Amino acid sequence: AAAFELRKTVVMVGMMGAGKTAVGRALAARLGVPFLDSDAEIESAANMSIPEIFARDGEKFFRRKESQVIGRLLNEARGVLSTGGGAFLSAENRKMISERGASVWLNADLDVLWNRVRHKDTRPLLRTADPRATLSGLFEARVPFYSQADLTVVSDGDAAIEEMVDRVIAALL
Ligand code: S3P
Repeated sequence: AAAFELRKTVVMVGMMGAGKTAVGRALAARLGVPFLDSDAEIESAANMSIPEIFARDGEKFFRRKESQVIGRLLNEARGVLSTGGGAFLSAENRKMISERGASVWLNADLDVLWNRVRHKDTRPLLRTADPRATLSGLFEARVPFYSQADLTVVSDGDAAIEEMVDRVIAALL
């Protein structure tokens, strides 16, 4: 059994490439609580990858699934929940998260984000003629939402994952 139970689920929000999954997983391990990942849940429920879901069913369908999965995960277990980069844009999602979770915005600057996503082909929203410009535009449009998170932790390019975990814990305490 875990040493203690969290009162709320810690919900990682922020841009693609901010480190939500890596830091969230390491934070859960450090705390000895379950790690939950909305993107991974959507993929395993659909038995398809996220690019496949976007291509076959579209972003709207994905967003509906995402809200359902976040609601279910927030009900099922308290732990650390990593969300996809678009999840915190929805007022419905923000409401669920604020009621049952403590949200943490992992904020990294554009260069850091770009360096982490540029070699991957897993983000359908970046399949554009100029993906760096797309990433930049998304970032700018989303800051007003991310900044509504309960806490902000800066994720610079040099910080190791365990250092990021230290920062999140320091912000939570
Ligand atoms: C998205 C981010 C992705 C995934 C989907 C949409 C977004 O998650 O949910 O491709 O809108 O920013 P990550 O933030 O884990 O890459």
